[in-house]
Amino acid sequence: MHFRKAGQGMDFRGRTISGTFFHAPHCGEIETLANALVTIGDDGRISQVVRSDDAGHGAALDKARASGRLIEMPQGSYVLPGFIDLHIHAPQYPQLGVALDVPLEIWLHKYTFPLEARYADLDFARQSYSCLIDDLAANGTTTALMFATVHLDATKLLAGLAIAKGLRALVGKVVMDDPDACPEYYRDYSAEQGVAETRALIDYIHAHPGNAEQRVLPVITPRFIPSCTDAALKGLGDLAHETRAHVQTHCSESDWEHGFVWQRYGKTDAESLDSFGLLGRRTVLAHSNFISAGDMDLLKARGSGVAHCPLSNAYFSNAVFPLRAALEKGVHVGLGTDISGGPSASILDTMRMCVASSRMLEDGVDAAHAPAGRGTPQSRVDWQTAFHLATAGGAKALDLATGSFAVGQHFDAIVIDTARPEGTIRLLGDALEPEDILARIVYTASKPNIVTTIVGGTAI
Ligand code: GUN
Ligand code: FE
Repeated sequence: MHFRKAGQGMDFRGRTISGTFFHAPHCGEIETLANALVTIGDDGRISQVVRSDDAGHGAALDKARASGRLIEMPQGSYVLPGFIDLHIHAPQYPQLGVALDVPLEIWLHKYTFPLEARYADLDFARQSYSCLIDDLAANGTTTALMFATVHLDATKLLAGLAIAKGLRALVGKVVMDDPDACPEYYRDYSAEQGVAETRALIDYIHAHPGNAEQRVLPVITPRFIPSCTDAALKGLGDLAHETRAHVQTHCSESDWEHGFVWQRYGKTDAESLDSFGLLGRRTVLAHSNFISAGDMDLLKARGSGVAHCPLSNAYFSNAVFPLRAALEKGVHVGLGTDISGGPSASILDTMRMCVASSRMLEDGVDAAHAPAGRGTPQSRVDWQTAFHLATAGGAKALDLATGSFAVGQHFDAIVIDTARPEGTIRLLGDALEPEDILARIVYTASKPNIVTTIVGGTAI
């Protein structure tokens, strides 16, 4: 069968795809599987990868064709791992692009908490969350790590919508219980409530009848230290230890937030979170712009990861995340849009900003300073690194078997059609090396070029 695009529900399970696949299992290195065969098992995982120069390639191709189970990618179409978005505030989608010019603490109280409070209304929640999930899939995101709101029912609804759509998602009920820091109209009314409702969400998602594959997972989600009491942080840390569920929170995001935690505990965010048992192998910390070298060592020791959100950081963080330093320390890092701190639902946009902000950190930004003292040397990352972070790096941070094309991994993928007139890739007949084609995709692709999004072997 010749492929153009797949309608929702098209099943790749039990089929073999013949085409060119790009992936980056190792940081900074692109691997091209040109004219390869990838077979997807009935469980949605990759069961076989045959390269064009493998001895059995011809026989495998003939066999797949004879069985009627071969899908052939056309010239100009390429298969990439689906994108992994490590930091999304699902309820904030309706305010994408709103108030990006005010400081974080004002943005939260004036715009964000009032919007999130509206998710007590399940009709509003359904409408907003459905739109977000559809848009994430259309943007090529196959795995989404999401904060919801404090409302248990609306958070269950979000998990249910992700299950119904087929998105791989990790969903958390936000815990924010400190009456001194959170508005009366929008908070948990006790630490016990926040912990008990988190436990209820974990049980609900695990037992959901549509979630037999556990494609959607629950996440323990203290919003950030400033919004939580010690009792809530401790209760959630204990719950993480007991359930082994994922944990997500914000860490050392801005001058204000980082300073607040120093004042409260005389320690960094990372050290404080660790003291509550919240740093584990399945913890993802958003932002982390102000983490110290010691914090990086701590994250590495715990196996915790960072969701680097370069678009959001430009507006709210007062500094660029020291990405290269963290990678060189061996910290797990992936990319996040931080909808709506970042005004885009696209991991392509996020990759581009990741590269650009690292270059600005390296060179510095103020021409009034002499070049030698203007920036932070050795900070740049290349697009190959950004692509790795957006795929295999994010999967590693989440401890999930996805993000590259290896046997045993979930087949979570996107098909890019480089020739779409309504898209933004213009190869115009240039004879390009495969890696140059991927560079053009990373830098110039847009939604119309993403013709199919596949999760667990099924088009969503
Ligand atoms: N810190 C606490 N809550 C938030 C949020 O919603 N967005 C961002 N960017 N930072 C936060
Ligand atoms: Fe955030």
